[in-house]
Amino acid sequence: MQCRPLILLWLACCVAGQSHTASGQQLSPPWWVAYDMFLAALQQDRCLNISNLEPSVHSTEYAFNITVCTTASEHKLVALATFLTVRFDFGGTKFAARVLDSHGHTMHPVHVHDGKHARKLLEAGLCGNPYFVRTAVSQPLPCMTVDWAIFQPMVVQLWIDNLADLWGNLNLLAADLLERVLGLEEFGVRATTLKFGTISAAPESAGSGCEQHPLQQQQQQQQQQQQQQQQQQQQQQQPQPGIAPAQPVKAAVGRVRTDASRLRLPGLQAALPTGGRRRLPAAGGGWQAGNVWQCWALHLARTVGGERAARAVQRWVL
Ligand SMILES: *[C@@H]1O[C@H](CO)[C@@H](O)[C@H](O)[C@H]1NC(C)=O
Ligand SMILES: *[C@@H]1O[C@H](CO)[C@@H](O)[C@H](O)[C@H]1NC(C)=O
Repeated sequence: MQCRPLILLWLACCVAGQSHTASGQQLSPPWWVAYDMFLAALQQDRCLNISNLEPSVHSTEYAFNITVCTTASEHKLVALATFLTVRFDFGGTKFAARVLDSHGHTMHPVHVHDGKHARKLLEAGLCGNPYFVRTAVSQPLPCMTVDWAIFQPMVVQLWIDNLADLWGNLNLLAADLLERVLGLEEFGVRATTLKFGTISAAPESAGSGCEQHPLQQQQQQQQQQQQQQQQQQQQQQQPQPGIAPAQPVKAAVGRVRTDASRLRLPGLQAALPTGGRRRLPAAGGGWQAGNVWQCWALHLARTVGGERAARAVQRWVL
């Protein structure tokens, strides 16, 4: 019973202290929180150099650069530009991220046509990020594919001066953090930490051969650099299919991500503009309803009546 006044006093002090902080110093504005999330998601990749967040001349825009190292493949550059080139509007103040190659040239995003393309870009872009394991595709039902990015089951802690949390910590699964920062939902990809052996058919082979483990040894890094150099040499010899080459891509091909609400910043949702924004079309292959029904009709006809029935249905439905 004697403790109670003490506890009350302590609480009063805390509340007073917090409100003092709030009135005297003000809370970090959302563009700083967004920047901290980008930093936490990306700074583990030693190939990326992330600049400070700096105001533009007119200081209505805060921008930072993500500079990719010289040894990175062209695929990685293009992929990072596609996922990380953003321009968010936080109630009049803009927040912008740009991806630069090692010479300081801005890389432009490319248009992502489908889930397969999105997975390929992810494999290339997250190669070297220790949170990333690999991508996979699952087919929960006939005619429906789901594209996944699989991350290490790790927790990332950010510091955020959020008054709702006395300790100001934001703890996120790496999968959740990267899903938000890369805007995976907009590309039709879901993030998970699941071990895929249990719920899906064998994942499609990655192609880039970049399965990373956290805290790689120096040896592995050297090997990786050699591989990347080899890849670069190969690229010079023959253009690889699948990912659009970077040079001829115009800015119009890809679209800059503009939907800040996907970051789901804690306690700041009210401040975010919502609605009225055009989203990138989801890349995920199987989720367009029309395609699914047509595919199911064909599937059913083929199962019941064989190829002839399938052809008849195809003529009738399509
Ligand atoms: C990152 O860029 C800054 C500014 O260009 C430079 O001073 C710094 O050495 C770079 N860091 C790394 C790890 O390359
Ligand atoms: C980003 O890079 C551009 C071009 O290299 C440069 O002009 C700008 O100052 C950089 N911004 C920051 C915040 O480092």
